[in-house]
Amino acid sequence: MTLAGSDILSASSFSRKVLDFIHNETDKLCNLDHKKRQELLKGKLVALLFFEPSTRTRASFTVAAKTLGAATVGFSSGTSTSETKGESLHDTIKMFEGYGSDVIVMRHPRDGAAQLAADVASIPVINAGDGKNQHPTQSMMDTYAIRKRHNTIDGLSVLLVGDLKYGRAAHSLIQALYCYDCTIHVASPESLRMPPIFLKKQVHEHTDLEEAIKAANPDVIYMTRVQKERFPDINEYAKVKGSYVLNRKLLAKIKPTLQILHPLPRVDEIDTRIDALPYAGYFIQAADGMPVRQAILNAVIA
Ligand code: CP
Repeated sequence: MTLAGSDILSASSFSRKVLDFIHNETDKLCNLDHKKRQELLKGKLVALLFFEPSTRTRASFTVAAKTLGAATVGFSSGTSTSETKGESLHDTIKMFEGYGSDVIVMRHPRDGAAQLAADVASIPVINAGDGKNQHPTQSMMDTYAIRKRHNTIDGLSVLLVGDLKYGRAAHSLIQALYCYDCTIHVASPESLRMPPIFLKKQVHEHTDLEEAIKAANPDVIYMTRVQKERFPDINEYAKVKGSYVLNRKLLAKIKPTLQILHPLPRVDEIDTRIDALPYAGYFIQAADGMPVRQAILNAVIA
């Protein structure tokens, strides 16, 4: 299996073979000697073009690139670039390709921007989040986290909760989960239901979190925040903010092996008193994003 030269644009194109490959490469890199790791991408240049805010995705790709020996170039905000003077995405991509980048990692507020970048660039493009559409490398991390904790994804019951309309991490995760033989439940306010385009196999839909937990008896609860910045009307956001808060009371009858994940950032949807419980997997999930992204960079850079 090789992903050399490939774009990573959408989890809809993932197969089990691709996910297994990235997960196994992640494990191999975690066990690799520090000096050997530093040689893997020596002399390579990773362009990190973040038109939208990020803590984890940008930092983990940066650390991943540097610890594999690559240099990085780019920006952390569109407002610090010549986009503010009217430069197009097409021209920005051409510039970073021209500076000798070996891969472009891009986050952009517009759905489909990653595809546009890939159409322009002759080097691989990794979608680090495009609008409310996709966050495919997050789903590689999420499935890695589930596999790491449960040793498998087949046979599990996975419950996705929160803003399933605007949450790109949830869109990518549900598509990645279709590669496995697991049961999928989703719980969201009526106005934030998962768009039909992301519903492929049988998915059990709920609107009440307590009932969803009871029906799903989940092995994994994947919480997501309400994506305030995506709402065209802030009044609509006000109606649904704080809709679901996972607290200790809701965990009264759960499986002892339950794993709670969250792509983060968290706002108020997971009570911080859950952080100390053995179910809380979100900080490990985020930390493992770095080696997963090492595996992704190493795989796509030819
Ligand atoms: N999960 C995630 O994408 O986090 P950031 O927005 O901080 O990158």
